[in-house]
Amino acid sequence: MSKKTPILILENLTKKFGDVIAVDNVNLEIYEGEIITLLGPSGCGKSTTLRSIAGLEKVDGGEIYFKDRNDGQMKPITNLAVRKRDMAMVFQSYALWPHMTVFKNVEFGMTVGSRQIPKEERKERILKALKMVQAEKLAERKPSELSGGQQQRIAVARAIVVNPSILLLDEPFSNLDAKLRIETRSEIRTLIKKIGLTAIFVTHDQSEALSISDRIAVMNKGIVEQVGSPLEIWQHPFNSFVGAFIGEANLIKCQVLNLENNSAVLCLLNSNDCFKSNQIKGLKVKENVHVILRPQMIEISHDKSETKNQITAKILESMFMGTLEYVKVELSNKTILTIHRKIIKEVPLERGEKVFLEIDPDQAFAYGGEFQTPAVY
Ligand SMILES: Nc1ncnc2c1ncn2[C@@H]1O[C@H](COP(=O)(O)OP(=O)(O)O)[C@@H](O)[C@H]1O
Ligand SMILES: [Mg+2]
Repeated sequence: MSKKTPILILENLTKKFGDVIAVDNVNLEIYEGEIITLLGPSGCGKSTTLRSIAGLEKVDGGEIYFKDRNDGQMKPITNLAVRKRDMAMVFQSYALWPHMTVFKNVEFGMTVGSRQIPKEERKERILKALKMVQAEKLAERKPSELSGGQQQRIAVARAIVVNPSILLLDEPFSNLDAKLRIETRSEIRTLIKKIGLTAIFVTHDQSEALSISDRIAVMNKGIVEQVGSPLEIWQHPFNSFVGAFIGEANLIKCQVLNLENNSAVLCLLNSNDCFKSNQIKGLKVKENVHVILRPQMIEISHDKSETKNQITAKILESMFMGTLEYVKVELSNKTILTIHRKIIKEVPLERGEKVFLEIDPDQAFAYGGEFQTPAVY
């Protein structure tokens, strides 16, 4: 994503199903050549947004603009027929035709609508697309003779063979087992980048989104909460929903003791233990807040230090996980935190032992207002 030229713009996009506002006034720019992911819990409107882009849903409000590949102009396509949109979609279910061979499945999109292509050229393109997804040997098989991973490759081949400007992928890995899912997502990213396609992914899996995307749009209840690179979103979540949904997060209830410039002293509720935070957008003194602390960002120390930003804790348990140790601790107000501790050269921890947790004030995200719990998928 070197240049930021929009290829698709969603302007106040709204889609309702009866009383349910599935997509609520969404504004989003998609840049040429980027992989962007719509990420959020089940039912937040990801698929409806994608289907509206594809023309599979008739929207209730707003406009979709798309770059015309002939003259480079952004043009409204909100009411344009599906087949006239310069896009291709990979569905969660793959939607392969069971009675057709792989070859015929991949060919299908080039035989209908405005994409009709002469037979010889079709054959050449099909073989090229199958090769790209490493499935050239599967051309004569039927979908029932393919594994889940192979079916997924064919669905991708069928989408890229029509040479679309944008590839739309709705939970494309969710039917694969964990190991294959991780392999496949890196293969698909490599393939998309090699062809130079723009891609919009939909997933509810934050680790998938973090690993595959150039940018992520975090969605919640039909709205986009935050758009940014995976690192930006992980490091600077705008609100408690994003903070808790992206990456692993501990949650601590605190009260603001005092505020000074851009930092605050926060005290655990029902405790005299306090620490400093520099992530305090819009907080007020005495306000109750939720603080998100990443398990990787807490240091466990055996010693108390007046100069460090520490709170006390008791070790509940620790679990060896290869290069990391997963430690559960209890704070003075009974809140339980998980900490990921690098074990190299560290003194072992004893169950029940009293320790001191050092908190990086730049990594303690405090939010006022209601805590928005991300729904479990
Ligand atoms: N065809 C439909 N008819 C009625 N309600 C729908 C339909 N499709 C989606 N919805 C509702 O719209 C909301 C968003 O759904 P969806 O876009 O599928 O979410 P996601 O893909 O994020 O899981 C949900 O409340 C869902 O129940
Ligand atoms: Mg969906």
